[in-house]
Amino acid sequence: RQNARESLYIILNFAKNFYLQQLHDTDEGQSIGLSYFRERGFTNDIQKKFELGYSPDTWDAFTKEALNKGYTADILEKAGLLIHKEGSRAAGRQTAGYDRFRGRVIFPIHNVAGKVIAFGARILKTDKSGKGASQPKYLNSPETEVYHKSDILYGIFQAKNAIRQLEACYLVEGYTDVVSLHQAGIENVVASSGTSLTIEQIRLIGRFTPNITILYDGDVAGIKAALRGLDLVLEEGLNVSIVLFPDGEDPDSYVRRVGAEAFKEYLKKASKDFITFKTETLLQDAGNDPFRLAAVIGDVVNSIIKIPDAIKRQVFFHRTSEMMKVDEQMLISEGNKLLRKLH
Ligand code: UTP
Ligand code: MN
Ligand code: MN
Ligand code: MN
Ligand code: MN
Repeated sequence: RQNARESLYIILNFAKNFYLQQLHDTDEGQSIGLSYFRERGFTNDIQKKFELGYSPDTWDAFTKEALNKGYTADILEKAGLLIHKEGSRAAGRQTAGYDRFRGRVIFPIHNVAGKVIAFGARILKTDKSGKGASQPKYLNSPETEVYHKSDILYGIFQAKNAIRQLEACYLVEGYTDVVSLHQAGIENVVASSGTSLTIEQIRLIGRFTPNITILYDGDVAGIKAALRGLDLVLEEGLNVSIVLFPDGEDPDSYVRRVGAEAFKEYLKKASKDFITFKTETLLQDAGNDPFRLAAVIGDVVNSIIKIPDAIKRQVFFHRTSEMMKVDEQMLISEGNKLLRKLH
């Protein structure tokens, strides 16, 4: 098992170096990949820090190179780098399959120790015409022996020292949000990579700090994603705040538009603790419908009782009773009732 994992790390590192070399030392990489990063405003230093690369627009340039170097088709497949072509191996042909990542810019995903465990690969154009139309914007490595998507956060290796020092962690949605914020000097940031947050990811942050601020894209999906599963964070005793961005913006586009200082100001101004955010959002949805308001009260109480610390619970009962215009003692006794049911 240990050996199997070790050989995956080795081939993944080889692939990372291949994509780096393609980006920097080939005409295609320079004219397509480098100019893409340049257009997005990523400096050479920040590209280096995240080991960004480029996968050439061919069927099997990487596979050929790796097979030449003595790696087996089997290990390439296990690393998620090769898509097996049915029958090709049985027929004894030289082509074992084709490269998973082709004609894309590459974001290596590192584990906490800094080893490459997977890749995210972005298509160059996302317009609705031509090649990009039918393909996903990002293609990611599949689950492998060393990559469990739900256990890892993009950027944790590059962010962990800053998270510890600042005793705070920003959680964003995308690869480019992480890269952009680093470039703006905000280094305590990791990405959930578009998935809804898992308890493993939260515990990973919790190893470094209890203070998490979620910076999600400013759209309805982003808000829903922010609410989903967040009671889990409360149960872990973590302090969660949420910042939403103006519609259509994400941390990357916003920091590039307003600059690092104004960005930090916005974070201070727009940041709301999770319970307050949730209560506000639910209240807005419920309007004046008394049945829906009753459901909101139940929902909010349900979140508050997940907080292990009794003093924090008390603060939130007080705060939300005022927001929902209901008696605080009633909330507390509802909370106690729910707690008794749980035990
Ligand atoms: P976004 O659609 O917000 O992309 O998805 P982005 O990060 O802002 O990227 P740019 O700025 O358009 O280049 C957020 C994250 O969701 C995952 C990726 O991790 C992405 O960074 N995602 C998104 C996928 O895995 N596949 C997709 O097709 C789209
Ligand atoms: Mn797992
Ligand atoms: Mn973006
Ligand atoms: Mn985004
Ligand atoms: Mn009170």
